[in-house]
Amino acid sequence: MKVLVIGGGGREHAVCMALAKSPKVDKIWCAPGNGGIADVAECVDIKATDIDGVVAFSKTNDPDLVVVTPDDPLALGMVDALEAEGIRAFGPRKNAAVIEGSKSFAKDLMKKYHIPTAGYAVFENSADAIAYIKENGAPIVIKADGLALGKGVTVAMTEEEAIAAVKDAIDGGRFGGAGARVVIEEFLTGPEVSVLAFVDGKNLSTMPSAQDHKRAYDNDEGPNTGGMGAFSPSRFYTDDIAQTCMDTIFKPTVAAMAAEGRPFSGVLYFGLMLTPKGPKVIEYNARFGDPETQAVLSRLESDLFEIMNAVIDGKLNEMDIKWADNAACCVVLASGGYPLSYEKGKEITGLDAVTDSVVFHAGTAVKDGKIVTSGGRVLGVTATAPTLDEAIQKSYADVKKIHFEKAHYRLDIGIKKG
Ligand code: AMP
Ligand code: GLY
Repeated sequence: MKVLVIGGGGREHAVCMALAKSPKVDKIWCAPGNGGIADVAECVDIKATDIDGVVAFSKTNDPDLVVVTPDDPLALGMVDALEAEGIRAFGPRKNAAVIEGSKSFAKDLMKKYHIPTAGYAVFENSADAIAYIKENGAPIVIKADGLALGKGVTVAMTEEEAIAAVKDAIDGGRFGGAGARVVIEEFLTGPEVSVLAFVDGKNLSTMPSAQDHKRAYDNDEGPNTGGMGAFSPSRFYTDDIAQTCMDTIFKPTVAAMAAEGRPFSGVLYFGLMLTPKGPKVIEYNARFGDPETQAVLSRLESDLFEIMNAVIDGKLNEMDIKWADNAACCVVLASGGYPLSYEKGKEITGLDAVTDSVVFHAGTAVKDGKIVTSGGRVLGVTATAPTLDEAIQKSYADVKKIHFEKAHYRLDIGIKKG
């Protein structure tokens, strides 16, 4: 079977490697891919958001499955466009991807179906938003409604900060159209857990829990990033909490989407906060998370290609998906300066010396036969072991063998306590 994977980050490298393990898969393309993905897939020079390009490539090359991994093409309707041409695609249609693409849609859905989440209000006018902030006080959370590369959220500890965030988004156009509407949320506290689930429109099968590290520096300091590392499982996500989430959040969300005429098919990501009043939804994503996927899929024992086909066919209830009873840790090596400005084109050395981890490439390219940096997040060094402590040790032992100028990584991935 032939598979085309859309995207070119560490997450897509993990998806390609999991698909490559399937005895049924004998050809993988990745559009656009990256320097590491090129080892498992043929990289094709089509942008992840180029719907016409992906459809044209698929009509010519006839993949048996197209996996649409990133948020932007899903929100733009790439799955719908492929299906219209009779091409099998994994991922939600546009009318279901809106659960990530519009935070106000997600909040209204949760309100309507009594799914626990932070209290909120939606504004398109900064004067009304500012009045609401003054009435409710800080801390308070301001979120751009649309997709903003993971940077649209401001957790404001003061009213001034909250007001500045609203003015930036609505009046300043900081996130373009994505920030013309903002959601203002109650500030919640508690450990954060990411739970990803395969969903086939009506059935769901959760993956093991994970935790991300969004801030650039140790102890959760510095600016928010796309994610500086992840580990699985979370220490906080007990069986009791998992059952509560299943009953109050996961199943009700899948049922709500079906009831709204927007059946969700693909991977649904639940960003949860375990608050003193129980688990609440912080965000939904309509896709695999990055870098959670690198940690979580490292623990998958079943055949990802078969799972994806069961999802498309609405037969997830017939699958018995197996996960290893172990732990995984993914440490991200980033370019110095990321998430602000950083240099590219630095040669990466030491990859051959890695012994105990899988190195997922995110921002790398091949230049003159050498692997060089080409993005902010460069590599995700991922190890599995019987315990989380051992997985952490193994991944850091390998991280230390890899070098490029101004490489930056956090030293505390996996030891997060809250
Ligand atoms: P998001 O992009 O929605 O995942 O938000 C980014 C981060 O902001 C989350 O991982 C949380 O740490 C924080 N955050 C989002 N919403 C809230 C909230 N209502 N209360 C406290 N922190 C939040
Ligand atoms: N790790 C968070 C995300 O993928 O959005």
